[in-house]
Amino acid sequence: MNGSIQANHSLMLSILDGISLWSLPIKQEVVVCPPFPYLQQIRDILALEAEEAFDPISLGAQDLSVYENGAHTGDVSAQMLTDLGCKWVIVGHSERKATHFETAASVADKARIAVAAGLTPIVCLGESKEMREAGQALHNIDIQLQPILEVGPDLIRSCVFAYEPIWAIGSGSIATSEQIFEMHSHIRRQIQSVTGQEGSPVRIIYGGSVKADQARELFSLDCVDGALVGGASLDAEEFLSIIDAAS
Ligand code: PGA
Repeated sequence: MNGSIQANHSLMLSILDGISLWSLPIKQEVVVCPPFPYLQQIRDILALEAEEAFDPISLGAQDLSVYENGAHTGDVSAQMLTDLGCKWVIVGHSERKATHFETAASVADKARIAVAAGLTPIVCLGESKEMREAGQALHNIDIQLQPILEVGPDLIRSCVFAYEPIWAIGSGSIATSEQIFEMHSHIRRQIQSVTGQEGSPVRIIYGGSVKADQARELFSLDCVDGALVGGASLDAEEFLSIIDAAS
């Protein structure tokens, strides 16, 4: 819940200017997920750039409704998101779980509905500090993963998973490489227990206090396929350095 029309405008222009200075097509996929009211604004800014044959950033949303349509006041459907040009949607962010009582089952429903509408869900998984200290981190992630794994391999292959330890989000301290390696490897094993090892691997990205100065180390880990960036994405220079570190 950050941003305003004016702030978004200057942030997006600075990010796009920075990318255009690199003058090469960037290899990595970059997605921005603004709050719902600003999707059209960001879409318009990105469309202007696309007209100049320059289309480096895709649009995503921060959530979607568990319902497909109808009388659900205040909800935003998958179809509305695709109508607005979204290709991605975050589901099950820990802040939604904490303040909107989302469950692992509803996150799986949202992922399913997103995929049916042609969106790629970024499915967030993460344990609390208490869970980690109690030695329950892996078990807790399994509980969050279970309903999605139960839907089956087609859904799993259509998702990107984001490991986001709750204790790292907004804390200023990123998880250690060992913690990230352990959890990403665990999530990969759980996913492959359903999908098998055939086909291109499902992407697992990391989120939680990713900043420019640790991004290179983060991306040097083979098990990390990208980053979900919160606070640092509000600063164009930081965000550009993170994109650069992933190349
Ligand atoms: P952060 O946020 O990068 O500010 O820790 C991550 C997130 O909210 O997913």
